[in-house]
Amino acid sequence: MPKQDIISISDFSKDELEAILEASFKMEEEVNAKGSLDLLRGKILASLFFEPSTRTRFSFEAAMFKLGGQVVSATGVNFSSMAKGETLEDTIKTIERYADVIVIRHPELGSAKIAAGAAKIPVVNAGDGPGDHPTQAFLDFYTIKKEKKTIEGLKIAMVGDLKYGRTMHSTIQLLSLYNDVKFYLVSPEELKTPSKYLENVADYEETEDLKSVLPEVDVLYMTRIQKERFAEEADYLRLKDSFILNKSLLANAKNDMIIMHPLPRVNEIATDVDEDRRAKYFDQVENGLYVRMALLAFVLGKIDIRKLSLRANGERGNLLNNG
Ligand code: CP
Repeated sequence: MPKQDIISISDFSKDELEAILEASFKMEEEVNAKGSLDLLRGKILASLFFEPSTRTRFSFEAAMFKLGGQVVSATGVNFSSMAKGETLEDTIKTIERYADVIVIRHPELGSAKIAAGAAKIPVVNAGDGPGDHPTQAFLDFYTIKKEKKTIEGLKIAMVGDLKYGRTMHSTIQLLSLYNDVKFYLVSPEELKTPSKYLENVADYEETEDLKSVLPEVDVLYMTRIQKERFAEEADYLRLKDSFILNKSLLANAKNDMIIMHPLPRVNEIATDVDEDRRAKYFDQVENGLYVRMALLAFVLGKIDIRKLSLRANGERGNLLNNG
């Protein structure tokens, strides 16, 4: 069997995505019923974060522990020998001698693919600069299915930095596999979605006017204007508060709309929105744990997505066989 990496959503078919979704729901059930599993007992995750992260890193590491595995980690280039000039490829070829799977976040576009090319063990892209963030797309998919029960027919507004926002790039690709989905792409002119991410998107409208589209939408997906992606600070300062969601703006939204955000937020969702029952961004954070448990089990061969079943080894071997 070839090793299974997770680099981009475009590497997956709709059936495969749905199988992983089903396995993620199973993980949530298992965690709620039993607390933890031992599906990955004896396995080691190398957690390499060369860019800041709270949710992705903690949820992957917690997911590995919840599955009975262990974690070795590096955060920031200064904490590895890359600070002495070692290449990414040599770093990966070294770390794979100590681990069974690598999760990597790196500031450069395409870095996860380079890491996967160098590694004999599975590599998971936890965000490659302004490129992709496929595991965020999986958890966004999970959250929408959990809350709205379906993807088909939804009207989805994606708001903020659609140019550099890797979560948007991955989530748009995933959701556009479903019929009759309409996207409102709400961004400043300078931060519009790159055309390559819209090639397979059947129905979308680009606008700078959040207020006018808000009454239409079923899913409102806010994002941060990312200071770290701008060459000139003046451009960031000019654009940073382009869209701010607050309680009064929400008065025009549907009662059953859901509000999402990959987090971290800076100023784009006022804290008075947090108490609104439509706010789901902290639920997304929790969902990331279940989804990343399923993804780690998948890349380490414990989920056969063709059969929609989980193959568990060891003394609790039958726990997940009905996945
Ligand atoms: N959503 C997300 O990627 O968050 P972190 O940057 O905290 O991992």
